[in-house]
Amino acid sequence: MPDKRRRFFIRTFGCQMNESDSERIAGLLNQAGAVKADRPEDADVIIVNTCAVREKSEEKLFSYLGRLAELKKSRSVRIAVVGCVAQLRSWELLEKKGTVDFVLGPDNSAELPSLVKGDTSEKFVSTSWSEKWTETSPGLIQRDSPVSGYVTVMEGCDNFCAYCIVPYTRGREKYRSLKSILAEVRDLARHGYLEVQLLGQNVNSYRDPESGKAFPDLLSEVAAVDGLGWIRFLTSHPKNFGPEIAEAMAGINKVCRHLHLPLQSGSSAVLKRMRRGYTKEEYLGIVSRLRSLMPGLSLSTDIIVGFPGETEKDFEETVEVLSEVRFTSLFSFRYSPRPSTAASRLKDSVPKVEKQRRLEEIQRLQKTIQLEDHGHLVGKTIKVLCLGRGQKTPHLFAGRNEGSQVVNFSSDEDQIGRFVEVRVTGFGPFSLSGEKTS
Ligand code: 5AD
Ligand code: SF4
Repeated sequence: MPDKRRRFFIRTFGCQMNESDSERIAGLLNQAGAVKADRPEDADVIIVNTCAVREKSEEKLFSYLGRLAELKKSRSVRIAVVGCVAQLRSWELLEKKGTVDFVLGPDNSAELPSLVKGDTSEKFVSTSWSEKWTETSPGLIQRDSPVSGYVTVMEGCDNFCAYCIVPYTRGREKYRSLKSILAEVRDLARHGYLEVQLLGQNVNSYRDPESGKAFPDLLSEVAAVDGLGWIRFLTSHPKNFGPEIAEAMAGINKVCRHLHLPLQSGSSAVLKRMRRGYTKEEYLGIVSRLRSLMPGLSLSTDIIVGFPGETEKDFEETVEVLSEVRFTSLFSFRYSPRPSTAASRLKDSVPKVEKQRRLEEIQRLQKTIQLEDHGHLVGKTIKVLCLGRGQKTPHLFAGRNEGSQVVNFSSDEDQIGRFVEVRVTGFGPFSLSGEKTS
């Protein structure tokens, strides 16, 4: 008998939170009797999970929708746009693009299963906020990795940085109960997961809605779960990164010695206009406190170049901070105005070519820093969590060390899901390579 079950394909844009949401959506659809397809051409429903954080993220979505419009000409397929652009553009997505059938905001994806099951040809939009956390049973989630599991602990943002759309797409901060978080972490540990990544747009402002316990308690209770190897968390805001969090981190061995701490700009004047709530000196103070507590701590960051009014001198200060801190990795972006944000009312004063020049300059600098720092690791043996296999060479494996650096190594035996000691023998700007010892 032919398999009559509906088939769905999910394409995810954006951050880890979106990847995690897609894993949850896949679980809900599975529970409703639908099965995952590997290619959009094989699906009855295509779900596009979207990101609105920069103009470019939205452009990528529209070009993808263009491709889906072509596909829709040749076969009957329903298209759902979910996530941040769905929340932001809502009805506009239906009006502008005949391609789209369903639009669901980040708080509305639980409505997908009934839409996928139904035969309605009607269009549907749902972008209402929910004040309560919607729980998904941990066993349902269809995770992409069998080694490292995402666990969302909070969602949304109350900070309203001048450039940022997140408070408008994900809403205000909402915290998940510690009890449910621990249940999910225990479920992961029971299934052999060696790493958890605690997710939230502002993860260190976490507060348990039931007991009032804060982020340091969350870290220590998660660390007490048997079987877990490493704990990571992101994203942290420097404004809320008090000494108690640094000390909690330093006091728990299972918490990886890596922190993603977005700086955004090295100029205090620009930071003020960005409404970040800290100065360059305060940021550097946090870094030196962290490093005195945890020597060898790896730090990564986000930088926006060309924020309205950013002068050459402001930019040079960013360059100086990057040279001083020597981040292990850098995510850098050209500023783009986003709807509703405070900065969108300012003149986007730095020309695109100048933004590009500044972007290239810091990327060049960062590449040099990474090459130098990777070079110092040659001959050393480092602990790596093996996450997957190389695409072309079957005996080549890939993983990350505590500092979140990518490490490729060879082995004749399957190493996925194991901690492996690797002796570093080579490097490039973005990864290390080596051999498994013993
Ligand atoms: N323009 C450019 N980059 C942005 N980011 C957020 N909003 C914007 C914007 N309007 C960057 C920040 C943030 C990262 C996720 O995206 O650096 O930390
Ligand atoms: Fe993009 Fe932010 Fe939404 Fe994540 S939360 S998908 S980064 S806009």
